[in-house]
Amino acid sequence: MQLWKGRFKKELDEKTNDFNSSISFDSRMYKQDIDGSIAHATMLQSRGIISAEDLSLIVKGLNEIKKEITDGTLTIDPNAEDIHTFVEGELTKRIGDAGKRLHTARSRNDQVAVDIRLYLRDECNEVLKLLTELIGVIADKAEKYAAAVMPGYTHMQRAQPITFGHHLLAYAEMLLRDKDRLSDAAERMNYSPLGCCALAGTTYDTDREMTAEALGFNGAVQNSLDGVSDRDFCLELASVLSIIMMHLSRFSEEIILWCSWEFKFVELDDAFSTGSSIMPQKKNPDITELVRGKTGRVYGDLITLLTMMKGLPLAYNKDMQEDKEAIFDAFDTVKICLVTFIPMLSTMKALPDNMRRAAAEGFINATDCADWLVGKGIPFRDAYKATGELVALCIDRGTTLEELSLDEYKKVCEAFDEGVYEKINLDNCVNGRTSLGGPAPENVLGQVKRVRELNK
Ligand code: ARG
Repeated sequence: MQLWKGRFKKELDEKTNDFNSSISFDSRMYKQDIDGSIAHATMLQSRGIISAEDLSLIVKGLNEIKKEITDGTLTIDPNAEDIHTFVEGELTKRIGDAGKRLHTARSRNDQVAVDIRLYLRDECNEVLKLLTELIGVIADKAEKYAAAVMPGYTHMQRAQPITFGHHLLAYAEMLLRDKDRLSDAAERMNYSPLGCCALAGTTYDTDREMTAEALGFNGAVQNSLDGVSDRDFCLELASVLSIIMMHLSRFSEEIILWCSWEFKFVELDDAFSTGSSIMPQKKNPDITELVRGKTGRVYGDLITLLTMMKGLPLAYNKDMQEDKEAIFDAFDTVKICLVTFIPMLSTMKALPDNMRRAAAEGFINATDCADWLVGKGIPFRDAYKATGELVALCIDRGTTLEELSLDEYKKVCEAFDEGVYEKINLDNCVNGRTSLGGPAPENVLGQVKRVRELNK
């Protein structure tokens, strides 16, 4: 059934009908479509455009349709052009002429724009909840491992000592920003295009502020062409989702490394790992690899949307029907990734002994050794050079800075004394790093508090 029969003499070609139809992916917006229609009809009646009897038939009919689709007693016709067509057709089948009055002073162009905003508003709230949960898990783990010394890396080379809690909290910071970005984009999206009609508003005496308020929008979109042409919110949300995936992907990559025998900093719970069909010893971090892989998919959704909108003249063009699959897929993907990632992370066991062992190798206390000399009045550049010579000596001998004798220290720089050993002790290296944002256990505990506060 099409809504636009009048001027056509032939039925739509069957394959063209399939090609043109969006029902397979827009039927998930049936609730939003019905809520939008109820708000619209209520407004039409309040303005005397439809009668009270028609309104009550429409509201009753639409609520029944909503209930029946939800409980499965009404099947959505897969041949319908889209969800808007299906709901209106079904309503008219049930209540006759009153159903045919619903579309007064409205077009599918503003209808779909409202539906998608309402639908995405709920999706944003779900993702926000999941991000909050994930940040909570990270904060708990960071608190537990606030004093677990591990090597921090640059260029994937051991660099300076940090704590596992500190490392984890870096992700909490990223995800807190993601929450901000998502709420911010959702807020900007929360304006109603309902009543913009096809493109040019209407001559009926409608009240767009009334429908906007009824549907929980902050207000009405102020230009009718913009209202039906705008998909900025899809682009913004897909960008935010891409950044979330990028963060999850970096976290995943690190977990993959940490699980390897080369690192063995963490162990994933059996419930969140997989085996190999041939190698009996294998325990693979598939979930994190999938999250990393699916990141590309969400980036693809963003590029789809950006490309779809590029060069489109105002106002509605059918190209825009392509918005839904991309933005829905981006949300679906982020949600399933978070839903799996959260319990995987919360059950992940850290192995602090292995972290400490790794921290003990690789001269990650060399900067502290140089800093000690600076404390003795040696200019940093000279202190750096002297420490470099000590590291070279250790590498030659296969030993560590802790194991060199004081004589050997003094040969390189007279200023050394016994105090250097205390300074380069790993725990002291970490405990002393109390600068704002630093890895010292006391800082980590303070940051955990701050993160929990911001995550409320
Ligand atoms: N199914 C369409 C979409 O998703 C609804 C809007 C149709 N409007 C139109 N003038 N053909 O974009």
